[in-house]
Amino acid sequence: MSRSRAAVLSGLGSWLPPRVVTNEDLSRRFDTSDEWIRSRTGIAQRHVVDPGVATGDLAHEAGLRALKSAGTDSVDAVVLATTTPDHLSPATAPDVAARLGMGGTAAFDVAAVCSGFVYALATGAGLIASGIADSVLIIGAETFTTIVDPADRSTSSIFGDGAGAVVLRAGEPGEPGAVGPFDLGSDGSLAHLLVIPAGGARQRSSGREPEPGDTYFHMQGSQVYKHAVLRMTESARRVLAAAGLGAGDIDRFVGHQANLRILDSVAERLGIPLDHRVTNIADVGNTAAASIPLALADAAARGELRPGHRVLAGAFGGGLTWGSCLFQWPDITPV
Ligand code: COA
Repeated sequence: MSRSRAAVLSGLGSWLPPRVVTNEDLSRRFDTSDEWIRSRTGIAQRHVVDPGVATGDLAHEAGLRALKSAGTDSVDAVVLATTTPDHLSPATAPDVAARLGMGGTAAFDVAAVCSGFVYALATGAGLIASGIADSVLIIGAETFTTIVDPADRSTSSIFGDGAGAVVLRAGEPGEPGAVGPFDLGSDGSLAHLLVIPAGGARQRSSGREPEPGDTYFHMQGSQVYKHAVLRMTESARRVLAAAGLGAGDIDRFVGHQANLRILDSVAERLGIPLDHRVTNIADVGNTAAASIPLALADAAARGELRPGHRVLAGAFGGGLTWGSCLFQWPDITPV
């Protein structure tokens, strides 16, 4: 990033679909229990869209609120991180931009599954640092429950729907809200651990009809768990080293809300006290690319995240992908 120009957080908005599905509700659908899900994941409930509501709708709501929080009604680019675009093609971001009254604005999707928000934030920061844009709306939005097999107790217990968004503006390095440094990485050799086997070009070009269930999200839970802990910890260590900081300098660790045990394990390995670890997974589950901005919004609303706090954001997801970022929380009011 240029020394003279930084991307600075200037607004935060979030949106959850109103309908809630509790662990008790799930236990009436398949063999599970509130106790099992809570003790293994920390999740008590998740928000789920009603029929007909899609990712673009949630992204629009969160985007509106982030723009309001930033005190603006337009930006130079809209970047939407999602695993669940409204269509395989085109991207969902141009539609969201148009609905936000920004027809003509640069708009595109970023696909990095649960790491999507950190990847999109880095992309937006790059657009600003390079001078391509002076302001960018970054949205993480998911209707993950549309790709979860309703009969799969493992994924159905974890994933939920929601959206969060931030506005980045051009500013000075070192000012509160300036994002960076970043650490991003991937390991495509383990793509099969989190995959939708059918529906893409690989299956279509084979000429074979999808196997039953193959249009749903498949997850090898225990393998994913191990990699999530390892990769999030390593990435956080790299970004801290790049900034010349130690775990003791971090006031709030806002990790991707994949599983409370994963978050606690990463915090413990990094040496970050649990009361510095932000979590809202009990109420929203794993919302993939929406997870970090939703956790930021929740922590700010509860007064757990305050201006001046130095934040470590860390994500891990399908791909495999991972990413970390540092920033000091600015004086903004989330909407
Ligand atoms: N209720 C009851 N049993 C469940 C269950 C549920 N909601 N979900 C999974 N199980 C069962 C499995 O079916 C399996 O049963 P089996 O042995 O009869 O086949 C058993 O629990 C053990 O499965 P396993 O995956 O080894 O359990 P686990 O202790 O690792 O917990 C997860 C399962 C999904 C909670 C855990 O693996 C996890 O959180 N993984 C990471 C997931 C994640 O973060 N994904 C997103 C990455 S961004």
